[in-house]
Amino acid sequence: MIDFKNVSVSFDGLPVLVDVNIHIKPGEFVSLIGETGVGKTTFLRLIYFDLLPEMGTVTVGDFSSTTIRKHDIPWLRRTLGIIFQDYKLLEDRNVYDNIAFALVVTGVQQSEISRRVLRVLADVGLSHKRNSIPDELSGGEQQRVVIARALVNEPRVLLADEPTGNLDAGTAMEILHLLKTINSRGTAVVLATHNYEFVRKSESRVIQIKENKIIDIDHPPTGS
Ligand SMILES: Nc1ncnc2c1ncn2[C@@H]1O[C@H](COP(=O)(O)OP(=O)(O)OP(=O)(O)O)[C@@H](O)[C@H]1O
Ligand SMILES: [Mg+2]
Repeated sequence: MIDFKNVSVSFDGLPVLVDVNIHIKPGEFVSLIGETGVGKTTFLRLIYFDLLPEMGTVTVGDFSSTTIRKHDIPWLRRTLGIIFQDYKLLEDRNVYDNIAFALVVTGVQQSEISRRVLRVLADVGLSHKRNSIPDELSGGEQQRVVIARALVNEPRVLLADEPTGNLDAGTAMEILHLLKTINSRGTAVVLATHNYEFVRKSESRVIQIKENKIIDIDHPPTGS
């Protein structure tokens, strides 16, 4: 599903990832940990081809970083749901319209938009808030809207970059639980976070970026 083969990337001559090999299977739940600045967001950007590797190949489904044409990148992205680290909801429209927005621009029919938006709202437990504007929601509720927005395209893979960064521990666990539920229905999830404690509770595969490499770890390290 997602395959990194000898992937290297650097910024301004400074290496971030060097000769990375990693495979993520369809339907897998993977937590990606690492200190701030080690390259978690960079790793996710490589998966949605926002960044192409300097060396090596990233393969996502049928798409390969070495052969993809620029105009095909949007097709790759339609198979992915992306939760950005600094997510933003549109403040001037309600929850329903925030989620529908992504579908309106891709030209999906109105009845189909309505069906899908109402379904993902139910999935994240926010059907009753569909007419609220983001300002009227708690941080955890806003994050659930962001997750619903990422799901509305029915992606095969959900990429979540620090989705619980600004939330208290209890709310963060609710979000983790939601991601696990989504995963149990068949969507692969890649969850990037620097919060080792959080990941320890996810009972999932954990990979770590360390010294420009990505390694599988059985147990998240304690401390740091
Ligand atoms: N566009 C860019 N130009 C130059 N340097 C960059 C760029 N993007 C990232 N970097 C650098 O690459 C390294 C990895 O950044 P990245 O954002 O992937 O880290 P991260 O693990 O997501 O960190 P955080 O936990 O703070 O989100 C950092 O040293 C960062 O300064
Ligand atoms: Mg980051």
